[in-house]
Amino acid sequence: MLESILRIISRKFLYYLKFIGRRKVLFLAPPLVLVVLVLWPACRWFAAHTSRALLPPLPPDTPLQHFRRSRSLQHYLTHTQILIEPSVAPCGSIDEVRVITLVSSAPPRAAQRQAVRDTWAKHQKTFFVMGLHGERVDEQLVDNYIEAKQYSDLIVFDFRDHYQNLTLKTALMLQWTLDNCPQTEFLFKTDDDVLVNPWTLQKVMEQNVDAQLLGYSRNNTLLHRDEYNKWYVPRWLHYEDQVSRYLSGTGYLINGDFLPQIMEAAVNVPLMNLEDIYFTYLVAHKELGLKLTHDKRLSPTKPWLKVSCMYWWLASTHSLDPHEMRAAWAKLEGLMKGRNHSTNICSAFNEFFGSWRDYGLTFE
Ligand SMILES: *[C@@H]1O[C@H](CO)[C@@H](O)[C@H](O)[C@H]1NC(C)=O
Ligand SMILES: *[C@@H]1O[C@H](CO)[C@@H](O)[C@H](O)[C@H]1NC(C)=O
Ligand SMILES: *[C@@H]1O[C@H](CO)[C@@H](O)[C@H](O)[C@H]1NC(C)=O
Repeated sequence: MLESILRIISRKFLYYLKFIGRRKVLFLAPPLVLVVLVLWPACRWFAAHTSRALLPPLPPDTPLQHFRRSRSLQHYLTHTQILIEPSVAPCGSIDEVRVITLVSSAPPRAAQRQAVRDTWAKHQKTFFVMGLHGERVDEQLVDNYIEAKQYSDLIVFDFRDHYQNLTLKTALMLQWTLDNCPQTEFLFKTDDDVLVNPWTLQKVMEQNVDAQLLGYSRNNTLLHRDEYNKWYVPRWLHYEDQVSRYLSGTGYLINGDFLPQIMEAAVNVPLMNLEDIYFTYLVAHKELGLKLTHDKRLSPTKPWLKVSCMYWWLASTHSLDPHEMRAAWAKLEGLMKGRNHSTNICSAFNEFFGSWRDYGLTFE
């Protein structure tokens, strides 16, 4: 079959060649016209479009140069002023504060903040911390002033709000807590795309009153040495390739008793760009020898199954846009309304699915 097809094709080709031999110009013209008018532009178009896809991504946005000038936390702290803060003292004269929640945000992320405000932040003392952002700093600051007047939950510092400055932002959070709410039992540091389950978080704290630092422990993590990666760490910022243990920055708790110690020690530890590795591993664990307690309920991921009981069981869920956050919150509130009934259903559910989770069936 194949053989006969090939034979026919080759016979036709030979016939064609013989033909060209006789009337060259006439029979070469149509293929030439085809090549010039159709194939050539088509190839050029194809090459232009595919080569763009094959090129490496745009140059990485890793301006780490400020760390070359100074890696001293003290230097950055003394050069950073507070611009906006809550009009009422956050903890005032209250003796016992269970937890103060500081949410890492950025000036333009007002929608994300509103989603947090309308959902879980109603249940715990929560403030948003940010710097100054982008080209139109003044306009942005005016917007933030208005937002701050309305809700009294913004804390704005005059440093450049950038992904590579998150360590400075976290340091400012710790320092602000020490200055304004030193009596808090725990500081909970989280992000504005995290849905917190206040009831589960409460339980996590009750069950770990003696914990020094508490969160989702990541073990034996290899650092990213590829400069195109968002979490790129150059060797001059951190020499070792592996970090034995740290708590994921999506949400961790620091025992208030250890805040002064941590801030004191941080002054002696050169800064690096990943805030969670810096504070939980380099400062707390390595420098001070504090214990990092693992609790898988402080999840750094989204549940792999988007059903109510998953949100019930987790203390935090990461990477939600404002719409997703409101939707997940509605599910959670629904469960809380029929609390007793839900507890029965969800504990049965989690007994079954909880073990699945342990096999790593989660996604980022
Ligand atoms: C971090 O903030 C400092 C102080 O505002 C600034 O000098 C530096 O350029 C910022 N870094 C980035 C990457 O924006
Ligand atoms: C990391 O190690 C701790 C202590 O050995 C362990 O309890 C925890 O489960 C580990 N973390 C993960 C994500 O497996
Ligand atoms: C829920 O359970 C608690 C104790 O288990 C009980 O005191 C309470 O009355 C129950 N609530 C409802 C609405 O059934």
